[in-house]
Amino acid sequence: MEKLMDLMEREISAAFEKAGYDPSYGKVTVSNRPDLCEFQCNGAMAGAKTYKKAPFMIAEDVVAALGEDTIFTKAEVVKPGFINLNLKGEYLAGYLNRMAEDKKFGVTEAKEPKTIIIDYGGPNVAKPLHVGHLRSAIIGESIKRIGRYVGHKMIGDVHLGDWGLQMGLIITELKHRQPELVYFDDSFEGEYPAEAPFTISELEEIYPSASARSKEDEEYRNEALEATHLLQMGKRGYKALWQHILNVSVADLKKNYANLNVEFDLWKSEADAQPYIPDMVAYMKEKGFAYEDEGALVVDVKDEGDTKEIPPCMILKSDGASLYTTTDLATIVERMKLFAPDEILYVVDKRQELHFIQVFRCARKTGLVKEDTRLSFLGFGTMNGKDGKPFKTREGGVMRLENLIADINEEMYKKIVDNRSVRDKDAGETAKIVALSAIKYGDLSNQATKDYIFDVDRFTSFEGNTGPYILYTIVRIKSILNRYVQEGGDLLEGTLLAPVNESEKNLMLMLTRFGATVENAFEEKAPHKICAYIYEVSNAFNSFYHETKILSEEDKEQKQSFIRLLELTKNMLETSIDMLGFSAPERM
Ligand code: ARG
Repeated sequence: MEKLMDLMEREISAAFEKAGYDPSYGKVTVSNRPDLCEFQCNGAMAGAKTYKKAPFMIAEDVVAALGEDTIFTKAEVVKPGFINLNLKGEYLAGYLNRMAEDKKFGVTEAKEPKTIIIDYGGPNVAKPLHVGHLRSAIIGESIKRIGRYVGHKMIGDVHLGDWGLQMGLIITELKHRQPELVYFDDSFEGEYPAEAPFTISELEEIYPSASARSKEDEEYRNEALEATHLLQMGKRGYKALWQHILNVSVADLKKNYANLNVEFDLWKSEADAQPYIPDMVAYMKEKGFAYEDEGALVVDVKDEGDTKEIPPCMILKSDGASLYTTTDLATIVERMKLFAPDEILYVVDKRQELHFIQVFRCARKTGLVKEDTRLSFLGFGTMNGKDGKPFKTREGGVMRLENLIADINEEMYKKIVDNRSVRDKDAGETAKIVALSAIKYGDLSNQATKDYIFDVDRFTSFEGNTGPYILYTIVRIKSILNRYVQEGGDLLEGTLLAPVNESEKNLMLMLTRFGATVENAFEEKAPHKICAYIYEVSNAFNSFYHETKILSEEDKEQKQSFIRLLELTKNMLETSIDMLGFSAPERM
């Protein structure tokens, strides 16, 4: 479906041409003086030089050429040569009627859908999820959904961290605590037990104590490093333990992500890339990309234009162990082989930028990816507390995601019960739904690359630019529609008529921007643009609602028209929040 802006532009361009000017001057933009007009064309100013003519005169010619039979109610020339435009209400209503019929509400689907792997979440097994992982999950999930909406094949991969030192630490700690376990018996050749020798809560206690001890006890740390290495070399008992750790953690992670309304298509992990390492390393050596430097194997990735030093990309440590870079490179090999993606997008903390610069350059230089495969990094900022420092618990510790969510749920529950518009038995469920909107919208409404302050009071407020405010608006619309149906109205009847007042027109104009907004949000990987948009739509709706009698409208067709507008507003808001990864309750 063509964008409204393009349709207007076509009309104005034709008038430029008819008046003897180049049609390319007919560009139309949203007015920057909404008090004067809705849209404007500044082409006459741009053309003045070419035609050696006062812009005002050009604009007058164009407006004359436009004539009476146009889609505008007003086309007015103002000094020095702007053409101010207002759209005809009937035309606007007709456009919205077509939008309502369009299955994507005016979003143009990608003509050539791309296969895009999106690497997000990135939790480390056996370590509890903390708020640092929250942003990746929220932002990544949203970009995945927006991409799908515009028609791309988005493959979300959680890319578990399961190959690093934390594994060696857990194995070492277990060995100290339970040396009799069969996994530590090198002579054992039978089948290992199917049941893990620990539960998730035990695991979550084991890791921090191992980590703490390794910081004080050098010998212990070396033991853990050795265990990590042996695991990576495929030692049988350690592999079996690793599998247990993975299984127990993944079950827990799935539960946590489900609560966040985050779903991954792939539950792959660093370990899955291991089989690709030997060939990759051999190839890099053979082709002369990789060389030895103080025992380690590295690939140079610096570039002439670099303003800061980019150190070589390390492929293997001197003891032959693989690193974070190795795993990421081998994962690229794996992804190319399994999915041949057009793009791999990483949604990771921006403090890891250097790592990704090295990995991307190395992958390109050594030809691990096709020339036209994009590797992109969306580095997000830190979530800070009100004190401007990274978000912590009240006691100053690392905040666990589960606790954070529980806190917000509780806060929301109190507010909802205070509001008392929901019967008590629903309040708990409703609180969860609204709390998720508070958390996600609070995050997504900021530009991803920036740090932001997690302000519980502000995020959970029903007023202002918040998730609960958007949900409140949707719930308000739903309740009007329900009442309409209860009073015998049919939601499917009628069509949208020209707006009856300014606020209705404003809402209608706002809705026409949906398509362009979503497409642009995807292009720029910027969910915050959808947030800004639905905030404006909600404000426009609420003004309309306050100024217009909807259910008490006596003219049947006019009332049906209002209902159509409400339906469309609701559908577009709900589609938008689905792209942001949350939903609205029936009541609040
Ligand atoms: N597990 C990593 C962390 O917690 C994030 C992984 C990001 N993805 C990647 N392919 N490196 O920092």
